[in-house]
Amino acid sequence: MKDTVLNLRNLCAGYNGKNVVSDISFEVGAGEIFALVGESGSGKSTILKAIMGLPSNDVRISSGSIIFNGLNMAELSFEDRRKLLGEKLCTVFQNPATSMNPIRKIRSQFLDTMRSHKRIDPPKALAAIRTVFNKLGLGDTDRVLDCCPFEFSGGMCQRVVLALAMVMEPVLILADEPTSALDVMNQRQVIDEFRILREECRASIILVTHNVSLASHIADRTAIMFQGEIVECGPTRQILHSPKHAYTKKLISDVPRIRAISLPHSFASKLLEVSNVTKRYNVAEQTVDAIQNVGFTLTRGEVLGIVGESGSGKSTLSRQLLQLEKTDEGLQQ
Ligand SMILES: Nc1ncnc2c1ncn2[C@@H]1O[C@H](COP(=O)(O)OP(=O)(O)OP(=O)(O)O)[C@@H](O)[C@H]1O
Ligand SMILES: [Mg+2]
Repeated sequence: MKDTVLNLRNLCAGYNGKNVVSDISFEVGAGEIFALVGESGSGKSTILKAIMGLPSNDVRISSGSIIFNGLNMAELSFEDRRKLLGEKLCTVFQNPATSMNPIRKIRSQFLDTMRSHKRIDPPKALAAIRTVFNKLGLGDTDRVLDCCPFEFSGGMCQRVVLALAMVMEPVLILADEPTSALDVMNQRQVIDEFRILREECRASIILVTHNVSLASHIADRTAIMFQGEIVECGPTRQILHSPKHAYTKKLISDVPRIRAISLPHSFASKLLEVSNVTKRYNVAEQTVDAIQNVGFTLTRGEVLGIVGESGSGKSTLSRQLLQLEKTDEGLQQ
C-alpha cells in the first residue's frame, strides 16, 4: 500500500497472560478510513489499546509488531510515546465526557493540549482553533470557547472532541464507538465531521464499531472481527455486498430495517392516559419548556416507542410519568 501510516503484523495481545486477539494483520493508508467491525468482546478495543500502548493499559502484546509512521511502537521510550499520543495519534471515544475535564472552559483545555505538544503562542493557537471550529460549523466560536463541557449535549461534546483532534493535525485517529451514544441526527453530523477531518487534514481514521451501516457510510475498507480474529478484510463495498464468512453474512442480515409491523395483539383496556403535560425548567434565569402539551394513551400489553432527537424531552417525560418531578400543567391517570 502506498503511504502506509500504520502496519500491524501478526499481532497477538491480551490480558493476564492470555491472548484475546491473535494474528491480527492490517495496514492503514494515509487519509484512509478503516473500520474494525465485530461483535461485543471480539477484541476491537483491545487492538486500539495495543496500538496506543499506554502504561496505564493492562493490554500486553505477546508477539507481532505495530509500525506507526515508520516507527516501531515497541521500541519507543515512554517520553517518545507520550509525545506521539495526542499529537500524531489522537483518540476519540464513545463517551466524549471522559476526554475532557467537565468543569474547565474549552478555551483553556484546548490551549493546554496544544501547548503541551507544540510551541505555539496563544493568539496563533486561538486562530487555529477558530479555523477548525469554522470548518466543523461549530457556530459561535467565542461562546463555545467560554463554555465548560458539562454545558454541552452529548453530540456537541463529541464534536468538540473531534475539533480538538483536528486542531492537533494528527496522522491517525483511533475512534472507538464514537457515535454509539448519540442520536441519529448527531451521528450523521459526527460522521460528516470525520469526512471533513480526513479531507482537510488527510488524517487516517480507524473506526471501531459494531454498526455495519455506519461502516458502510464512511469506511474505505472494513475488517470483520470474530472471536479475537479478523475473519474478513477488504474494500467496504465488497465486504458488505459479497460477504464470505458466515459471521459477516449474519451480521449483515441482522441489520435492523425499518418496516411497519402489525401485531396480532388487541389493545383493549386502557392503562395510562397522559394529557397536555408541560414541564418547564429555569435555566440561567430563562424559562425553558422541556415538554409542552404532551399527550398519549397506553393500553395494557402495548409497547409504545417514544422517539426524538437529543434534548427533545424524552427523559423529562419519563420523569413526569414516574412523578419524580412536579408537573407544571396537564395530568396523567
Ligand atoms: N482489562 C481487561 N482485563 C481482562 N480482560 C479484558 C479486559 N478488557 C477486555 N477484556 C476481555 O478481552 C476480550 C476482548 O474485549 P474488547 O474490549 O477488546 O472487545 P470489544 O470488541 O471492544 O467489545 P465491545 O464491542 O463490547 O466494546 C473480552 O473477552 C473481554 O472480556
Ligand atoms: Mg470495545
